[in-house]
This record gives sequence, C-alpha cells and structure tokens, in this order.
Amino acid sequence: MIIFNSVKSLENHLTDLQKQQKTIGFAPTMGALHMGHISLISIAKAQCDIVVSSIFVNPTQFNDLADLDKYPRTMDADIALLEKADCDILFAPEVNEIYSEEELNAKRNHKEDFSWTQGKTVDFGLLDKVMEGAHRPGHFNGVAQVVSKLFRIVNPNKAFFGQKDFQQLSIIKSMVKQLEMPIEIIACPIVREEDGLAMSSRNRRLSDEERKEVPSISKLLFFIKEIYKTHPINQLKEVVTNYYEKESLIHLEYFDIVDSETLQSITDFNNSKSAVACIAVKLKTVRLIDNVILY
Ligand code: PAJ
Repeated sequence: MIIFNSVKSLENHLTDLQKQQKTIGFAPTMGALHMGHISLISIAKAQCDIVVSSIFVNPTQFNDLADLDKYPRTMDADIALLEKADCDILFAPEVNEIYSEEELNAKRNHKEDFSWTQGKTVDFGLLDKVMEGAHRPGHFNGVAQVVSKLFRIVNPNKAFFGQKDFQQLSIIKSMVKQLEMPIEIIACPIVREEDGLAMSSRNRRLSDEERKEVPSISKLLFFIKEIYKTHPINQLKEVVTNYYEKESLIHLEYFDIVDSETLQSITDFNNSKSAVACIAVKLKTVRLIDNVILY
C-alpha cells in the first residue's frame, strides 16, 4: 500500500493511473478502523482496479469539540488492517492539506461555510433537517464539505459508504447529483459484532457495563423488523421508548421509522416504497446510531 500525506503527490499518482484507464474505488474514513470499514475496502476491491482509502478526522463535522478530541486515533493499527485488506492507496492528510485558515475560522466561529459547492446551489431540502441533522447542527454540511473535497482530489469512478450511516449516504447521493459529479455511490451493508451491535469506532469508548447493555439497540431494531407488518407504527415506537424509559445507562435520543428516500417519518407503510427504522442513543460520553431496513 502506498501512503500519501499530501494532495499534490496523491493527485500526481492518481493521474498516472487514470491515464492507464484504471478504475478507481474510494472509501473515505476517519480511522480507528474495524471490520465495517474493511468491508468497504473488500467490496471496492471486487469492483475496481485500484482502491483508495482515506483517514482524516474531519474537524468541520464535529459540533462538539470534546467529541473531536476524544475521537480515537490508531494510525499504526489502521495501516496494518488496510495492508491486510489489500488496499492500494491510503491518503492520510494533515488538517491544513484539506482546509484553508478561512474555512477553519468559519468553523471556529460556528458559521456554516458553503464555499465547497464552488458556486453551485446545493440544497438538501428536508434530508438534513431530521434525525442526525436535527441533533447535530452543521454536521452534514461538514460531511458534504470534506467528502466533496476528497472527491475532487481522488476523482473516483465509484465511492463506497456504509448503510450504518443511512442519512449520510442519502446526503452524499444528493450532493453528488447536485454537484453533477460523475461518481457512482455504492451502499454497503452494516457489519455487526456477534451479539448484533453495529461496529463503530466509538464502541471502544464504552465501559464494560455499557458494552453489556448496548446490544439492546440492534435487538430492538430486529424485533421491530419482525413485528412491523402486524402492528401500527405508534405501537412500534412505543416498544422502543418504553424499553429505554426503564434503562438507566442508555438514553434514547430518537427512534423513527422513515421513508428510505425522503427520510421523513412514516405514518402509514402503504405510502412508502421502502422504509427504514433508525435509532440514536446516548450513553455517558458516547453516542451510537444504528438502523435496519424494514422492506
Ligand atoms: P467513519 O465513521 O470512519 O466511517 C467511514 C465509512 O465506514 C462510512 O461510510 C461508514 O458508514 C462506514 N461504516 C462505519 N461502520 C460501519 C459498519 N459497522 N458497517 C458498514 N459500514 C460501516 O462516516 C465517516 O467516517 C465520515 O463521516 C466520512 C464519510 C469519512 C467523512 O468525514
């Protein structure tokens, strides 16, 4: 695996590969890699000649600076995992390779910066007003900002994202369409621990006691999937809210059943072609999300 820290050297290398008509697959990450990330590399490997991954803990998508500081950084172990997965190229830039001082200042002053659209109008409509967007102001603008920058650097044919971050996937698809980027976005299934917990870089920050309780998240989602055809939506929601009312370590931030395309709450399954149940919970210092596609 070749590791690049600078945009220029990566761009030069990729231009050579593109001249040789190689197809490029790209899987961006923030590091602290686990088998969920590695599954994206494997899927990309099967579909593209060259696989590029990136590790960049993106400051503009964190609304809580403490969360940014606490984000696990495990570069040596990450490199070993990527090597083992046969990843071809790793891009691991420093913050000032990606952002100008003005962009970082905008973030410091809590101003949303739209310079990444390069003059095009990008409007996520209601997609970023719900769920994660509602609970993490500015988060998806930061995600779109960094992913659009990385896309312009890597110029991949295909980019691979996990369904674990279902809303992020919708935002990226919408962004690529609105910016008219010729990149195919590939959705990859959620990789879980044996007890069902969705793999996440944040799981390593759970205490032993918390780790014992968190499988309830996916267990509830799977239960909802089992019973949704025979129960009204408000009763499905009550199953989850009632469970977490009795739970002291886990605080429920939201549970919703939404249309997979619009991400808006559903009141009647007959009106949606596809639906997904999404959940976010907060423990003492760790926030976790998960979802299950119902149909
Ligand atoms: P990160 O949380 O590191 O995730 C990188 C990619 O791995 C995302 O596409 C995410 O959905 C996927 N992923 C994480 N856990 C997964 C799991 N258990 N199963 C399958 N896929 C999983 O998402 C981000 O980073 C950032 O927002 C990023 C897109 C890199 C922009 O900064």
